[in-house]
Amino acid sequence: MDGGVVVGIESTAHTLSIGSVDDKGSPAASFSAFYRPDEGGIHPREAADHHAEQASSLVKQLLQSGITPDLVSAIAFSQGPGLGPCLRVGASVARALASKWGVPLVGVNHCVAHIEIGRQQCQMDDPVLLYVSGGNTQVIARMGDRYRVLGETLDIGIGNMLDKFARGQDLPFPGGPKIEKLATSWREENMDASLDDYSLPYAVHGMDLAFSGLLTAASRLVKRGAQLGAVCWSLQEHAFAACIEVAERAMAHTGKTELLFGGGVACNQRIKQMGEIMAIERGAKSNAPAPQFCVDNGSMIATLGRLQVLNDGGISYESSAVNQALRTDETPISWS
Ligand code: ATP
Ligand code: FE2
Repeated sequence: MDGGVVVGIESTAHTLSIGSVDDKGSPAASFSAFYRPDEGGIHPREAADHHAEQASSLVKQLLQSGITPDLVSAIAFSQGPGLGPCLRVGASVARALASKWGVPLVGVNHCVAHIEIGRQQCQMDDPVLLYVSGGNTQVIARMGDRYRVLGETLDIGIGNMLDKFARGQDLPFPGGPKIEKLATSWREENMDASLDDYSLPYAVHGMDLAFSGLLTAASRLVKRGAQLGAVCWSLQEHAFAACIEVAERAMAHTGKTELLFGGGVACNQRIKQMGEIMAIERGAKSNAPAPQFCVDNGSMIATLGRLQVLNDGGISYESSAVNQALRTDETPISWS
């Protein structure tokens, strides 16, 4: 493959998104459709139906933005991890477009895509990544030809924990941004409040994390009459401090001097602020990509797809099956 636009298709969970990078690897804004369940959590089959219904409209929007088939040199898609039915819709769309347009097909690891868009956007060379999304919470660093997971959640992802807490308080999905608003405005009016009065369990277990105990305890605090804003504040402080602690330990062990955020929860100002404070104390750097590149988006899939197709070429249709349980460290890294 020489030059050309790489198109990326993301469909791991709620979001179906189609994006692209140009021949220099610069990402364009993605076209996205979000599945929002009427009530309760995500239903994989319903989310997949949503994606199947929206796919042609998103492809149309991409074409109308000026990305005509003759400009496209490869089609990348999220091969995993994620929800099987959702992943299969994205993979089918990718196979159809690659076949129709006669270009290579590239299957990419969704978690690695969060890292590569972040490295590119924040111009980082060899960071420790704090990947905080709905379904994933991992502290990752590159060791040789793999991104290794140095610590991760033992139960639910931090974003799912925030969303579940919010749902219990009748706040609509996604709960993370609403919790941030409530926490920020409550804190502004209660600057001398102490966390001791809203104490919650600490989520660190060695290099790993666990959030379900925090969720239960926070919901119980509200039931006992604590103000919702106060509990949102305490929940954020406890959950984010735990993530930053594990990230700091990973930096200390590996000697790396860059902290990079990825995933939807990295849209949160408070977690980014905590990362910055920790990094400054260590003489390190901390940064997060713009929100549109933190949340799931097609352009990050295109970014990684371009690196892979330039270094390793495309994949065969026979090896393009999705892998719901694909691990971050299963994907060999052949680029610098
Ligand atoms: P993955 O497949 O990587 O697990 P995902 O499907 O959860 O990703 P993302 O778009 O990466 O999708 O992240 C969505 C999550 O980010 C939701 O849980 C949402 O509540 C959370 N989120 C978004 N904005 C904020 C914010 N400002 N503060 C806290 N959480 C946020
Ligand atoms: Fe994601």
